[in-house]
Amino acid sequence: MFERTRFEVDLPDGGRVLDVCDAHFMAGVAFACRHANCGICRVELVEGADLCEPADDDERHLTEGVFRHDASVRLACQLRVRAGHGVVRLRVVR
Ligand code: FES
Repeated sequence: MFERTRFEVDLPDGGRVLDVCDAHFMAGVAFACRHANCGICRVELVEGADLCEPADDDERHLTEGVFRHDASVRLACQLRVRAGHGVVRLRVVR
C-alpha cells in the first residue's frame, strides 16, 4: 500500500516496486535516475520489511551514507518485494 495516495495492489508473485509504479500512476512515487543515484524515490518502509529483499551496497550508500536515514528508508527504484502474502506499506519521504 502506498500511504500518500492510498493505492493498493496485489503482488503475490513479488516484483519490483518500480514496475508497479510505472504501471499504476496512482502509486504516486516520483522517479528520476532509476539507478540508486538521485534519491528522489525514497520511501519509508512502514510495514513489511521482512517481505522485501534487502538493500544492496549502492542503495545503502545513498539512503544511509548520503541522506543519513536508517534502514527503514529504501529507494523505490531498487526495492523488490518477495513472493508471498502480507502487507508492505510505503510512505514517500520528502
Ligand atoms: S529514481 Fe533516483 S534513486 Fe531512485
